[in-house]
Amino acid sequence: MTTVDRANERLVDHRVALGGTVEASRLAGRLGRWAHGDGTLTARLAQAIAALIEGGELRPGDRLPPERALAGAIAVSRGTVVAAYALLSEDELVERRQGSGTRVAGHLAAALPARERTARGEGLFSALPSGIDLLRAVPAMPQLALDIVRAHTPTLDPVTLSETDPAGLPSLRTRIAALFEEEGTTATAAQILVTHGAQQAISLVVDELVSPGDVVLTESVTWPGLADSVRRRGGRVHGVTIGPEGVDVDELEAAIVALRPVLIAVNPHHHNPTGTRLPSAGRIRIADLSAEYGVPVLEDRVLAHVSFDGVVPPTLAALRPDAPTIVVDSLSKWSWSGLRIGWLRADPVLVRRLRGVRQLVDQSTSVPAQLLALDLVEEARALRRAVGETHAVASARLLAEMAEQLPDWQVTPPRGGLAVWARLPVGSATALSRLAAMRGVAVAGGTEFTASVVYDDHIRVPFTAPEPVLEEGVRRLGEAWRDYRAQL
Ligand SMILES: Cc1ncc(COP(=O)(O)O)c(C=O)c1O
Repeated sequence: MTTVDRANERLVDHRVALGGTVEASRLAGRLGRWAHGDGTLTARLAQAIAALIEGGELRPGDRLPPERALAGAIAVSRGTVVAAYALLSEDELVERRQGSGTRVAGHLAAALPARERTARGEGLFSALPSGIDLLRAVPAMPQLALDIVRAHTPTLDPVTLSETDPAGLPSLRTRIAALFEEEGTTATAAQILVTHGAQQAISLVVDELVSPGDVVLTESVTWPGLADSVRRRGGRVHGVTIGPEGVDVDELEAAIVALRPVLIAVNPHHHNPTGTRLPSAGRIRIADLSAEYGVPVLEDRVLAHVSFDGVVPPTLAALRPDAPTIVVDSLSKWSWSGLRIGWLRADPVLVRRLRGVRQLVDQSTSVPAQLLALDLVEEARALRRAVGETHAVASARLLAEMAEQLPDWQVTPPRGGLAVWARLPVGSATALSRLAAMRGVAVAGGTEFTASVVYDDHIRVPFTAPEPVLEEGVRRLGEAWRDYRAQL
């Protein structure tokens, strides 16, 4: 044994003394949606544990929970855990010693630094390869969008085609500013930054405004792309209660006073995942709070236009032009998610700063995509109307299926958006989604959308899948639910 090995061994011992056994419930929580995917349960469990080891979340010397305890925590037989540990041992990822259990192998010094698992929303992209995907709420392209894309002829003008401004094509920025104006929000091209989808706009704003330890206020359940971005920066996400009428604005004000946030991020229209629409008084109040306390507010409008009754509330920026508002929107929900075109509207100084950051991240948005976006934005009104109409029908159909298959789930019919947020009368959505996965349906429980409160009694069911797929998905969800209830 070399001196380095000996030193490493001391480190390992030290770490074990500090860390000891990883608790079964903790490991179960870190495993996430391990039961999804191909292969036997044993192989999937071994893979999920291996991923935690490779990612540095389980560190050399960490002692895995006793087989029986882990089996109980993840609702499988003890034999499955024994076999999974044996597979890990064959791959030399763990060491099994008589009397001292199963430990993660390797030298601590060579391990990656342990990281807090930040990407909760990652599970939304882990649909079963051959199953039914009720995880993502990605709408099909409206026929009109398909027609526009097919008829598109790129401008082969050398000036435009060689344009690489990190803020976006000048013509597209001007057109997006005009779209804001048409809808009652003042905007100039200098206030617009074109991004790779709304998600990049959110990440850029968070990276620029949030430092480690800073607080960001948002709804207690929210789009994970927001909360994960804040956590990745080392910021703290504080969730404000959201009810059937949207976020609680009194609680929001109290949190502003108590926590001094650097940013408020809300999704007030057809909120993802709850589908709620904040009434006008609440929206005015948030705009006022932003102006009065001087806290920037990021208004996520990606779902604002997927409206079943045609009601599309104005931006917070229109309600209170002196408030430091940042509006984020994209083509994803009413045109083409795969095109990856989004934008933000902010004051020109912030746009300038973000343009600088953008240059470092990925230089600029693809010009062909921006040229296509110009054609689609031109038809924004018709495209948004079409998506609203299609999904009003899809929502009603899903609610009818759910009433039949899942009659004891509590749902409030949404007035817009792309998903139903259902409350289970008993039990855990995480446990249910595991059973559903075994029946070939991937569906997200509330924990995926947790900002700071765990909502494991809710499930999000999108109505974006084609009709027969959705019907079969809900039927299987019903079977999984009946099995699960019988076990409780
Ligand atoms: C509320 C919300 N914000 C932002 C995004 C990201 O949108 P984009 O596809 O434009 O990046 C999504 C995507 O589902 C969303 O639901």
